[in-house]
Amino acid sequence: MLDFNFYNPTHVVFGKDRLAELNDLVPQGAKVLLTYGGGSIKKFGTLDKVHAALAGHEVHEFGGIEPNPKLSTCIEAAELIKAKQIDFILALGGGSVIDATKYISIAAKYDGDDYASLIKHGFTPVPVSEAIPFGTVLTLPATGSEMNAFSVISDDTGKYGVYSPLFYPKFSILDPTLTFTLPTTQVANGIVDTFIHVVEQYLTFPVDARFQDRTAEGIFQTLIEIGEKTVENPEDYDTRANFMWCATMALNSLIGSGVPQDWSTHMIGHEITDKFGIDHGRTLAVVLPSLLRERKDKKEAKLVQFAERVWGITEGSNDEKIEAAIQKTEAFFHSLGVPTKISDYDIKKEELGDIVKQLEAHGMTALSESGDLTLDIVEKILNDAY
Ligand code: NZQ
Ligand code: ZN
Repeated sequence: MLDFNFYNPTHVVFGKDRLAELNDLVPQGAKVLLTYGGGSIKKFGTLDKVHAALAGHEVHEFGGIEPNPKLSTCIEAAELIKAKQIDFILALGGGSVIDATKYISIAAKYDGDDYASLIKHGFTPVPVSEAIPFGTVLTLPATGSEMNAFSVISDDTGKYGVYSPLFYPKFSILDPTLTFTLPTTQVANGIVDTFIHVVEQYLTFPVDARFQDRTAEGIFQTLIEIGEKTVENPEDYDTRANFMWCATMALNSLIGSGVPQDWSTHMIGHEITDKFGIDHGRTLAVVLPSLLRERKDKKEAKLVQFAERVWGITEGSNDEKIEAAIQKTEAFFHSLGVPTKISDYDIKKEELGDIVKQLEAHGMTALSESGDLTLDIVEKILNDAY
């Protein structure tokens, strides 16, 4: 097992009807800004419940955070916080609202004028020492943002992963009933995103990390068991509860500690979202199968383990087991209504080169667990994925 630090201070408040506890979770006397997206939380009554719970606080609102949140929107919110002297932010939404809130929390304490520079540090911490504290009310299980220290923010030049230890929410309310109103496509996207978060921390090479491997396999198996059921039965509490907890645990450092990681599918996927506006989870589903086929020699031992332990494939050569496991993974995504070919979207084959160019412009030229996934290999993966 590799060496690691494990630190995760987020207080999780899980279960039905826990919004009333906001009054105790938010610091007494704090001036609060509620951040949210395009209006789903207004439409489905969550915003009213939050206002009722925070009746003793001075509360302001900032809505209109878009999916794949934009830097310019975040700066507007940060300026509002400065003007109103807000002490605490409460994010109400999915990954986009939570990610935006993380960036807003540091931007509101930033004295400089180069806000864009704050999103361009990759996996090294943003060089800031202060943030406005924030909590979250999660409405879309997918990204794990409710219990991790990452944020993804876009500007005119691209979509950037941002990291800071200040990005852990103080608390996150995970109420599975808040997901009942999700459109089917968003539920399917969330399941695929969660599945592929686990893939990126598991399908590399063995380091004898048995707890991490078996926990990852448990998340895979749970998602496979409940995937179709939770898409088809939006108000089945137990499947939504299992899905929600899987999504959080898939990307909160638990299964990623002490193991090699390969975020290539995400890095390529982010460029596809940036260029073509396709939802995050859906971009991953088109990249992953052909990436696994292309990299099967590098990942052989773990792919065979994946085939045997997750999909129960015990017959055939290693190559046959691996191909069968990739096909079962594709069939799982299809069962959720998520396509696995780039040609299923309105993208021309000639445009694939633009994705490669964007990766180059963003310095993503040596991806994978071993840094040897070069742009010519990305080009091949994209062509095979078409
Ligand atoms: O904006 P509203 O009106 O709220 O509607 C949203 C949005 O249109 C809707 N929605 C959310 N909860 C709902 C609901 N509709 C009805 N009922 C509800 N309960 O769903 C739509 C999509 O929301 P969004 O937050 O964009 O989706 P998701 O949670 O998938 O987040 C995607 C973003 O997270 C980033 C992605 O790159 C993308 O920008 N990621 C963040 C990560 C992290 N912080 O660790 C890791 C991920 O890999 C990912 O990159
Ligand atoms: Zn993701």
